[in-house]
This record gives sequence, structure tokens and C-alpha cells, in this order.
Amino acid sequence: MNLNLGILSDSWDCQAEQIGNSLILHGDCFQWFRTVPENSIHAVVTDPPYGLKEYDIEQIVKRENCNGGVWRIPPTFDGHKRAPLPRFTALTQKERAKCHDFFVEWAQLVLRVMRPGGHLFIASNAFLSQLVFSALVAGGLEFRGELQQVQETSRTFLC
Ligand SMILES: C[S@@+](CC[C@H](N)C(=O)[O-])C[C@H]1O[C@@H](n2cnc3c(N)ncnc32)[C@H](O)[C@@H]1O
Repeated sequence: MNLNLGILSDSWDCQAEQIGNSLILHGDCFQWFRTVPENSIHAVVTDPPYGLKEYDIEQIVKRENCNGGVWRIPPTFDGHKRAPLPRFTALTQKERAKCHDFFVEWAQLVLRVMRPGGHLFIASNAFLSQLVFSALVAGGLEFRGELQQVQETSRTFLC
């Protein structure tokens, strides 16, 4: 079965793999959205790069070396050491403005390809959600509600 469904333009070169009824693409979503036909996507579910800074090469190297940068000491639960998480409180005003601009542009791209009545589910965290949601609204999307996870561990205190 060919699952391309017209969503892989010849002008966009990326790694793609079909698994069951799904097509997995590896690439820059900003580039990809520009190649997708208008009103063609029913829903977007995403866990985006919230602070952006954590994907700078310099920060990735610091994470690999477990030394400095925006990274918090990884918490350990039940004998499992988790991956380091970025410390979003360390973002400067300039970095927050960059994050805002990123999500305004991203929302505009999503809006163009989303079908009328389509929905976006976006993972968030309490610290940056206001910034991100306001940017998404500035980009043209509507805020329709929120699901909250009740966490009953002491993780917050361990980090
Ligand atoms: C918060 S992480 C997602 C973590 C994932 N949910 C997990 O549990 O492992 C954000 C992801 O977005 C990816 N990413 C960052 N910028 C991107 C872009 N322009 N296009 C596509 N993916 C991007 C990063 O490589 C990273 O894997």
C-alpha cells in the first residue's frame, strides 16, 4: 500500500519509512509544512522543542558531556535514570522572544495545511505554556481547552 497520499512532494527530500498504516518522516517540519497542500491535515499531535535553545549544537554537546548548559541534573526514579531535561527558567527575554516568534510562524504554517475543524494537541509545561499558547493564537489558531496531568510524585522537588 502506498501511503504517500500526496503529502510527500518531489521538492522535499527526507528519510521516510512506512510502518503498518503509518508513514514516518524524519525532517524539519517547517520545511515539510510548506510542501503540504492546503486544508489537507485533520490533526496535529506534537511534543515540540519548548525552549529551542536546548537544540543549539552548543547545548547538545553540553548535554552529551553532562557538563553545564541549560540542562538540569537528570532525576532518578525507581532505579531508572531519566534523560536530562532543559531548565526553562534559564531562558533570557531574548530567548523567550525567539521562542514566541518560532511558535507564531509554526502556527501560521499549521493553519494553512489544517482542514477546517482540524485540531492540534500540543504537549506543554506550566512554565512556558502561556508564552506558547499566546504565540499560537497570534499565529491564527484558537485556544479550545486544555488537559492536565495530575502528577503525584515528588519529581518537582528532586530536579
Ligand atoms: C520535546 S522533544 C520530543 C520528545 C519526545 N516526545 C520523546 O518523548 O522522546 C522535541 C523534538 O522535536 C524535534 N524537533 C526540533 N525542531 C524540529 C523541527 N524543526 N522539525 C521537526 N522536529 C523538530 C527535536 O529533535 C525533538 O526530538
